Amino acid sequence: MTEQHFIPKNLPETRPNGQIVWESPSNIALIKYWGKRENQIPENPSISFTLNHCKTITTLSYKAKETHDTFSFDVFLDGEKIDDFKPKIQTFFERIEVYLPFLKDYHFIIETKNTFPHSSGIASSASGMSALALCLMSVEKQIIELNVIQNESDEAHKYFNQKASFLARLGSGSACRSIEGDLIVWGENKIVDGSSNLFGTKYPYPVHDIFKDYQDTILLVDKGEKQVSSTVGHNLMHNHPYAQNRFQQAHDNLEKMKMILESGDLDAFIGLVESEALTLHAMMMTSMPYFILMKPNTLKVIHAIWDFRKKTGVPVSFTLDAGANVHVLYPKRDAVPVLEFINKELVAYCQNEHFICDQIGQGANQL
Ligand code: PMV
Repeated sequence: MTEQHFIPKNLPETRPNGQIVWESPSNIALIKYWGKRENQIPENPSISFTLNHCKTITTLSYKAKETHDTFSFDVFLDGEKIDDFKPKIQTFFERIEVYLPFLKDYHFIIETKNTFPHSSGIASSASGMSALALCLMSVEKQIIELNVIQNESDEAHKYFNQKASFLARLGSGSACRSIEGDLIVWGENKIVDGSSNLFGTKYPYPVHDIFKDYQDTILLVDKGEKQVSSTVGHNLMHNHPYAQNRFQQAHDNLEKMKMILESGDLDAFIGLVESEALTLHAMMMTSMPYFILMKPNTLKVIHAIWDFRKKTGVPVSFTLDAGANVHVLYPKRDAVPVLEFINKELVAYCQNEHFICDQIGQGANQL
């Protein structure tokens, strides 16, 4: 499949007005995407747990306008007009216009809010971009349905989700993994049938029950702005001395992950997931220029998790995204001792003792 698949043919002329609301979750990668080519094509495959509670809720109001020469939109966060978000959305619209050729026919009001604090250091780009992509897909659906027979077939549903993921990817790479749950693969590879560089796909193989309700408690170690953005970090993988080995490793790790997901081997899961997290940060530390996104408390948390695991045998592990916060991963059956440990020992390393309890989820919903 190529990008052409997502360019609508013979889109009707009618432009209905309306309003649509979607909520879309964040996701946490187990095998990390780090490094991309032009047009947000990942250099290696990744797999993530879709989250359940950390979400963006976006209301998109759309009104047909007279002129068709520019994009026209306003953005509100928690009811407040935020012009700072406009350049990012302008760039997003420019990238996706060829796939949604009606964009310049409308004035859009984008009202967005997150279920997690904006300044928490949790990236809202995955949930935010996926929620916006879904809203825009609903506009496309309405334009088409006003003119042709309503199509609720499995094929139409699949196209809707695939194109929403495809568009979300053009906003922020990892956002393409937030449309559906509960395990999503993105990036072409030989291990997962149907995998694509263009959009995320549901992991299609057997998954052990232990992973079906896996928990992710996010420790907000540092809520500050990151010193180096993901975009800059991805770009530093060009000419990175370890890049090719890293990209190959992600393929190899995906193969290992497939076996782990089926068998429920938690020791192997812990080893692989923690190694992926540290490898991601090792790539940052070995780029030129180099940088470190972990903070002293990130390391203190990691050591405390290792000590606790050794002492108790409870299969708790960590992963990191591109920041200082720590995602604490564990099976639901171990929630009591792990939460006790977090409350007793780890909370001291969180800014304002702040952490968020989340778990694996099923993807976005139209409200
Ligand atoms: O989606 P981006 O461009 O913000 O990149 C995010 C990359 C990581 O979060 C570090 C890893 C991943 O696969 O989500």
